Amino acid sequence: MASHVSIIGCGQKCFFSKKSQLFFPSFLVKITHRNGRDKEQHEYHFRNKKDFLVLKRSKSLTGSSTGKAFPKSVFKKLSDAAEKKPWIRPESCSQEQEVQAVEAKIGCSVDESLKAFHPSMKKSVLILEDFMNSYKDYDGWEEFCRSGDGDHIVDRNKKNDITMTIESFNVSRSAKLGQYFAHMDNANKLLDEVMTFVKSLSNPTRILFVEPSCGDGQIVMNLINHISKLKEKIASTILAYDIDEIIIEKCKGNISQVENLEDDSIDLHINISCRNFLNLSRDEMMMDASLANDANCTTIFLGSPPYTSGIGDGENMDRDLPSAFIHHCIQLKADFISFILPDRYERHKHVEVIHKDINQRFGETWRCKSHQLTTNKFSFKAMEISQPSIIQSWSKTLDNIA
Ligand SMILES: C[S@@+](CC[C@H](N)C(=O)[O-])C[C@H]1O[C@@H](n2cnc3c(N)ncnc32)[C@H](O)[C@@H]1O
Repeated sequence: MASHVSIIGCGQKCFFSKKSQLFFPSFLVKITHRNGRDKEQHEYHFRNKKDFLVLKRSKSLTGSSTGKAFPKSVFKKLSDAAEKKPWIRPESCSQEQEVQAVEAKIGCSVDESLKAFHPSMKKSVLILEDFMNSYKDYDGWEEFCRSGDGDHIVDRNKKNDITMTIESFNVSRSAKLGQYFAHMDNANKLLDEVMTFVKSLSNPTRILFVEPSCGDGQIVMNLINHISKLKEKIASTILAYDIDEIIIEKCKGNISQVENLEDDSIDLHINISCRNFLNLSRDEMMMDASLANDANCTTIFLGSPPYTSGIGDGENMDRDLPSAFIHHCIQLKADFISFILPDRYERHKHVEVIHKDINQRFGETWRCKSHQLTTNKFSFKAMEISQPSIIQSWSKTLDNIA
């Protein structure tokens, strides 16, 4: 069993947190084992904050509680210094043998790290050591003194490569999901179209608005504002879905900031959830809306479906997600559909295929109207991109289309 632990340095290796996707400097600790009377053996391993917290949360085996409080500010001070420049404590490298062991561990010369240690840090190191060694009789001691580094520890100089890999992974993931978000002006144009249909309805009981692939929520935010501005108040339910749970959290945050949300004069129910719209059944949709399946409500689908490959990869790629979304809206008993789509969806051939398919599958005749958007701006990972687009609306009665 280990008899003592000491701090050697910090920052030559980093702990990568999967949750926050950030790097934190790791502490190099020396673990001393005493074999027999005088024989000492040393091991050098990196430990991250999680390991220190294991000590703090562990239980006393002897019943007496001598474990010291975790010195949070001291830990932060030493980590912050290592963030700027990795440091090694000079007295830990006073013997040649020790220098060799540390250099073998960190994979480079200790010279630069020794220079980075400021004498004012000595007191902090002693406090942190004091904390660690006060847990010798605790059940977390053995775990802390185990062989090997903590999980997800990487070399400091590989940080940049890893950051770039994560970023390119995020970019390609967003591209695969078609995460091109509507510009506010275009979201408003879409809403003008939808509101013209809403105003054409005579005494609707309730309107169920569904944004099937809401992204960061721009269209839903504009929808709330348009509903609140209607002269004749209409009871409304908004359902917003997206397949990506990260973007759904962002959408929830954005929508919680909308001012009109607190307006008591509107009967508005909102439900935002993560799911694949193409697998949504009518029962599930009505349940999410807290409405009975036969509720007398008008159902409007609005948004901009993913243009690209969407879910799936390689051979399984579904290259025509907008058509699949339109079909699915009809299956879910849509009364009106209005989407921002790539301009290729305006072509006669494309529209005819959708018409024919609807007719064959549902025995219904739907009509559609499209018009070009003048600004083709979308945002992709905070970059502005241009994609010639249209607003296309579908309804069973052409008259109701603006
Ligand atoms: C073109 S973006 C549109 C976002 C939003 N409607 C807007 O205009 O700002 C398409 C969104 O569809 C989502 N998505 C892709 N496949 C989906 C699916 N099967 N079900 C629900 N959402 C999906 C993506 O994550 C992405 O946020």
